Amino acid sequence: MEAITTALDSVPIGLANYEKQSIDSLDYLKDNKIYCGDARYLLRRIQPESVALSFWSPPYFVGKSYERTLSFQDWQHLLEQVISLHFPIVKAGGFLVVNIADILSFPDPSMPRIQADNIRNKKAKVTREQVVSAQQAYPEYNRYQLAAILGCSEQTIDRRLKNNNIRGGKYAVQRKVKLVGGLIDEWASRAGFYLYDRRIWVKDPAWENCQWHSLSYRSVDEFEYLYIFWKPGITLVDRNRLREREWGEWGSRAVWYIPSVRANQQHEAQFPIELARRVIRLLSAPNELILDCYVGSGTTAIAAIKEHRRYLGIELLPKYAELACKQCLRAHELEAQCDLGL
Ligand SMILES: C[S@@+](CC[C@H](N)C(=O)[O-])C[C@H]1O[C@@H](n2cnc3c(N)ncnc32)[C@H](O)[C@@H]1O
Repeated sequence: MEAITTALDSVPIGLANYEKQSIDSLDYLKDNKIYCGDARYLLRRIQPESVALSFWSPPYFVGKSYERTLSFQDWQHLLEQVISLHFPIVKAGGFLVVNIADILSFPDPSMPRIQADNIRNKKAKVTREQVVSAQQAYPEYNRYQLAAILGCSEQTIDRRLKNNNIRGGKYAVQRKVKLVGGLIDEWASRAGFYLYDRRIWVKDPAWENCQWHSLSYRSVDEFEYLYIFWKPGITLVDRNRLREREWGEWGSRAVWYIPSVRANQQHEAQFPIELARRVIRLLSAPNELILDCYVGSGTTAIAAIKEHRRYLGIELLPKYAELACKQCLRAHELEAQCDLGL
């Protein structure tokens, strides 16, 4: 087995300089390694037509620490570019699988501030219509004077006039909600891929992360998509990859129920190893090369080791690249022990 190292010194870290680097004189990235650097730079250093399956979960643009500097525009450029850089490196007949939450919510000052009239929280009986008519009758009155006329507090007047923003606090900027699947499909098609399939991963409901559900009719966040893109070419179909029972339970099923990773002390957005194992087992053969260019804590690489595939991981942040590297070493050791029957 080849030694596993991070290449922390050998590649640029950060978003600014990835395009300036000359890659012509550099070697291809090696298998069974985790590299630290920007995917937009390092993907250019992967051997063409070498990757059987690329599986990753990108920054979702939901305010995690590693994406805070990105504008919505930057985020779109990042994903579009990374997808297009995949086309030359994925084998003909191979797959690119993107795991992402299908719905995105981000502050948009240009959007009208829709007011939510939350009936259950109303303690005073005064209605918005009453406040508006009092205001029309006494246009020179401030809210304290209007409160005195209507027999309520000045906060009630303020609340009735402003109410709460439907997707944020009373004074918060409105939040725009957008479907992501269409964007990913558009970028992948532009790159030359074809949408092959999609699966739904049902995870734990994320009540604590949901910023707006109590003031709207929107559901809590509890599933994500896996968009599967195919590069034209012959795809080997091997029905022996899974047992009969596995085909029935998940291989042929569109909806996968897999609990979220709860203890996220090491990385703030890990996906479960079972998710990566299923994708790898379904869409690749033993010893093929699996890529994750947003490898984070190394989940895809570890799943590849367990499933006896080769892997290549790319991660921007040194702390996560180091974590992924350590976890891969551990997984290799465990696999070696298994091979010895220990
Ligand atoms: C959603 S997380 C992936 C988590 C991973 N699937 C796991 O289970 O640990 C996205 C990762 O992409 C990394 N990242 C963000 N921008 C990147 C870039 N331009 N190139 C490479 N990695 C990047 C982040 O640091 C983060 O670890």
